[in-house]
Amino acid sequence: MEEKNSKVINWINGNKTGPLSIEIWPTNRCNLKCAMCGTRISQRNLLKQGINAQFEEKKEIQEERLLSIIEGGSRLGVKNWLLTGGGEPLIRKETTLRLMNEIKKRNMFGNINTNGTLLSQDDINKIIKMKWDLIMFSLDSADEKAHDFIRGIDGTFKKSFKSLQNFKKIKKELGINKPKIVFNTILHNKNYDRLDKIIEFASDVECEDITFIPLIEFDKFEKNITLNDEQKEEFQGYIGDIEKLSKQYNINTNISSLSNKGDRNNKSFLKFCFEPFLHLVIKANGEVTPCCMIDSIQENIKDKSITEIWYGEYFSELRKRFLEGNLLENCKNCVLSQAIRNEELQKELKNINLNISQDHF
Ligand SMILES: C[S@@+](CC[C@H](N)C(=O)[O-])C[C@H]1O[C@@H](n2cnc3c(N)ncnc32)[C@H](O)[C@@H]1O
Ligand code: SF4
Ligand code: SF4
Repeated sequence: MEEKNSKVINWINGNKTGPLSIEIWPTNRCNLKCAMCGTRISQRNLLKQGINAQFEEKKEIQEERLLSIIEGGSRLGVKNWLLTGGGEPLIRKETTLRLMNEIKKRNMFGNINTNGTLLSQDDINKIIKMKWDLIMFSLDSADEKAHDFIRGIDGTFKKSFKSLQNFKKIKKELGINKPKIVFNTILHNKNYDRLDKIIEFASDVECEDITFIPLIEFDKFEKNITLNDEQKEEFQGYIGDIEKLSKQYNINTNISSLSNKGDRNNKSFLKFCFEPFLHLVIKANGEVTPCCMIDSIQENIKDKSITEIWYGEYFSELRKRFLEGNLLENCKNCVLSQAIRNEELQKELKNINLNISQDHF
């Protein structure tokens, strides 16, 4: 049985168990200005209330504390780590590289999501030599102009491309097959009809996997990149060809899950969520939640240990309400891939006869 299933079952049967994965946001700061970025949008909203997000640096978790979280997580049995944001994790490069080292020293699985613009050749050397597992490059177009337009800063595509080339070259030189390179590609009106180019580009730079992400509309964007209804319809017509092309190039994609067939795009299938049984997110200011979409001022890693938070009241309450299908307001923005994972887990658990007692959480 998959470990995520057995973790949920353990909880339901009254055996408390640690998280499977932890996500850390080292910072909310960033060197880019992406049109659609939720962090930038909330920083703009804070500014409207007179709160300057530049002071956020002072609220960031100190490096020593972050390193102790890796140790605490490892003691709780955590297997997978994701370093992301918030902002760009490599803005705190020294700290992020130390966290990566600590994760690998303890033989756990490491994944980092980055815009890919801040990696020097020396950094890439270190990352390959520590046998880091996975890098999710955010690449929104194979066309330089379109990518830079979305990311808000000229020269972004060239820098990410250079990093990708360096990974390919240095991995070969060192004879190390890690990290696996994958793309996170947001679907927007500058790329929805040119996804074939991204597949070809991915193949050139030895990217093995592409996750196409439907845009989450946090707010009105300064540059509107959302697909209109006509473009959404048109996009549906491309899915089959993109599926074929990705098979031809041997690149895994989630493109078929974006088909309108079934009711996935309206997320009506989103009824339950198992994140508080499996996952823990530590945001840049120390807030701890079960999912990147959820805000919580109730738990902060600066005040408590990771074990106290995981087995504490806030997570227990969420476990109870989520099992009852009572999700939170922000869940309406649930990332599609997350919602699909939850749906699959729910189906698998339905086949198992569980004696659910709410007292267990
Ligand atoms: C917030 S970023 C943090 C990591 C890093 N700065 C980066 O861009 O890769 C995490 C991921 O969220 C994606 N993202 C940003 N805004 C989004 C939106 N409105 N809808 C969906 N995904 C979004 C980014 O493209 C990136 O892959
Ligand atoms: S690079 Fe990442 S964190 Fe920075 S603005 Fe873009 S999406 Fe946001
Ligand atoms: S946004 Fe989705 S994954 Fe996150 S807590 Fe809500 S339902 Fe779960």
